[in-house]
This record gives sequence, structure tokens and C-alpha cells, in this order.
Amino acid sequence: MSLAQSALPIGISGIEKRFGAVSILSDLSLDVAAGEFLTLLGPSGSGKTTLLMILAGFVRANAGSIKVGGEEIITMPPHKRNIGMVFQNYALFPHMNVFHNIAFPLKQRRVSAAETAERVERALDLVQLKGLGERRVDQLSGGQRQRVALARAIVFEPRIVLMDEPLSALDKSLREHMQIELRNLHRRLGMTTVYVTHDQREAITMSDRIAVMNAGRIEQIDQPEVLYARPRTKFVAGFIGESSFIPVESRNGSVWYEDRKLRMNDAAPSTGRHLMVVRPEKLRLVADVGETGVNLLPATVGDVIYQGDSFVCYATLKDGRQVTLRDYCRSDVLAKLPAPGEPITLGIDAQDVVLVADQ
Ligand SMILES: Nc1ncnc2c1ncn2[C@@H]1O[C@H](COP(=O)(O)OP(=O)(O)OP(=O)(O)O)[C@@H](O)[C@H]1O
Ligand SMILES: [Mg+2]
Repeated sequence: MSLAQSALPIGISGIEKRFGAVSILSDLSLDVAAGEFLTLLGPSGSGKTTLLMILAGFVRANAGSIKVGGEEIITMPPHKRNIGMVFQNYALFPHMNVFHNIAFPLKQRRVSAAETAERVERALDLVQLKGLGERRVDQLSGGQRQRVALARAIVFEPRIVLMDEPLSALDKSLREHMQIELRNLHRRLGMTTVYVTHDQREAITMSDRIAVMNAGRIEQIDQPEVLYARPRTKFVAGFIGESSFIPVESRNGSVWYEDRKLRMNDAAPSTGRHLMVVRPEKLRLVADVGETGVNLLPATVGDVIYQGDSFVCYATLKDGRQVTLRDYCRSDVLAKLPAPGEPITLGIDAQDVVLVADQ
């Protein structure tokens, strides 16, 4: 079973959704490439499920357009959209066995018994549940149920698969295992996938691109590595990975942290106050304060927490601001771990200086 040739792009534009007087999605536009694995990531209530439901056709938007392969589908009923969907809570039929759960969408589409049997077999094989067709759903583990839900979503060879937090009910190790399985399945089948999670690590592991949602809007959409290294807003920087924010000022084409001119690769932003986004792993302890080509930040050590493979050092800058440094416990690093109360110099390289608006 390969869906690659039937994968289609999705063009979402100008979507508005209100519940009563409350605006949930406002002027939301998003293009998903054919065969892309795109994740909607955002805090609870940011509108991820609502957008997925609009794509699937279960919720009607107040305005906007959704095109699949160039064809407008915004008024098309759900069963005509040819979209597979995996809900957060599996939504399997508990009174049916695995086979009949997976066969359900085929039955709805009046596929013959012989073809249904063949397709269900192939779907079971794909999700590695061969031989479990007769098993009742309530006799399966959480991960197995999740895979049944997935098999049911892909058995009718949909052009698009939507998944709403499909792994959130699973324990950590099964979740990580399923992340890799889902990713591999996507690679093999190539279906255009819109995936929802509020687990940033899951989003980073699985996605071609991530759209970060905040209060019904998309704040930034980029590849995971770009989103992490170059967040464009304070919200994105705070939501993906850990960050400390250091206030800086841009004037006359340079950026200043107190009386120090920052070395940075990017051009200086517009005149005024900004925030420097500092990731714990981008900060380092500088032994030689004469070192050039690095931004030096004098600080005082607060707590140092040893975590086996790595350590975390909380430090306070001269202005009283807290920053966090993390590094691996290589022998050379361990030999000179700072002690609480000790004055230190932190360094951040010019290429790692990222600024966002202070708001
Ligand atoms: N049927 C409804 N009637 C009124 N408000 C609703 C309805 N469905 C959702 N909302 C509201 O819309 C907003 C977005 O909800 P949505 O379920 O899309 O968020 P989400 O990003 O999926 O959140 P979560 O991560 O918690 O699943 C929330 O404030 C929610 O309360
Ligand atoms: Mg949701």
C-alpha cells in the first residue's frame, strides 16, 4: 500500500472560527505541502483541535477556504473529504473486534467483502498487528489500540491523515516507540499529515515543519531546527526549549547589553528595547576573560545541580537576572565545576545571539 502518488497539498486561508461572540481562530492561513508531516503545537485552548475539526469537516468555519489539491472542500461533508482521522481517545468501537473496527470505513464506502478482507490484512500488517484481527478491542494494550485507530485511519487510503494527540494517553517508553513507528509509517506511505500535540519534544522528533499556535493564531511556522535556533517571538522561544531572556537595547546600528556592545552575526534590529534569547546549552563558562569573539556576561553562581550525565548551573547576572547554563559532565568540565556564590564569566558566541521583541 503506497499513498505517495495520491498525497495532496492542503491550502488553508483566512479561516475564522467563533463560538458565540468568542473568536477561536482568526484569519488563519497555512499551506501544507503534499506528503508533508506538519505539526500544530501550542498550549491548551490555542485552537489546535478546532482547526483539525474544521479540516475534517466536523466543525464549520465562519469564513475562509480549504483547498485540497486545488479543490475547495470547505462545504463538503466529512465522509466525502477522504480524510483519515485519529482522535486523542482512540474512539474505537469497544463491542467490535479489531478486524471490524478497521473495516468500518470500508463498509461505509461499500467496498466488497473480499477487498475489505485484503485491505484490512494489509493495514494490520503495516501497523504490526498481524494475526490480531479477531481480538476484541478491550483485550488490547494502549499501544495496540492506538495502532488499530491508525490502521482504521489509513485503510481507505485517504489523501490526508489528521491526528489529534494520538499518543498522549500512552506511557513514556511506548510513546517514544510509537513516535518512531508513526514517523516510519509516514515515510513509507507518504500521506499528507497534520498532527497535533502539545509535547514540544514529540513535535521536534516527528515533524517536517511545526506551526506554533498561540490564541488562535500561528506565531511561527518553520522546520524544527529553525524554530529552535531562530525563534521569532518571545512566545515561541519560551514554548520550544528552555530560555532565559536578557534585555538589550538597539541604537545606532549596534545592540547593547548594559555598557557592553554585543557581538552578533545577525544585523541589529530596529532601535529600541529587545530581548536576547539564551538557551542553556549555548552558554558556557569562560575561563579566560581576555577571550575575544565571544560575548562575556559576568555573573554569580546560584545553585549547581549535578544530574549524572550533565549539570545545570543557575547564575545571576549583575542586573539581578537569572540565567541557566547546562553542559555535559566531561572530565575536564567536572574538574572545575563552579561553586555556589562564586563569581564567574559566562560566554555566548556571536552566532548564537538571537533577539526577539520585548513585549
Ligand atoms: N463547541 C465549543 N463551544 C464553545 N467553545 C469551544 C468549543 N470547542 C472549543 N471551544 C473553545 O475553543 C478554544 C480552542 O479549543 P481547542 O479544543 O481547539 O483547543 P486545543 O488547542 O485543541 O487545546 P488542548 O491542547 O487542550 O486540546 C478553547 O478556548 C475552547 O474552550
Ligand atoms: Mg485539543
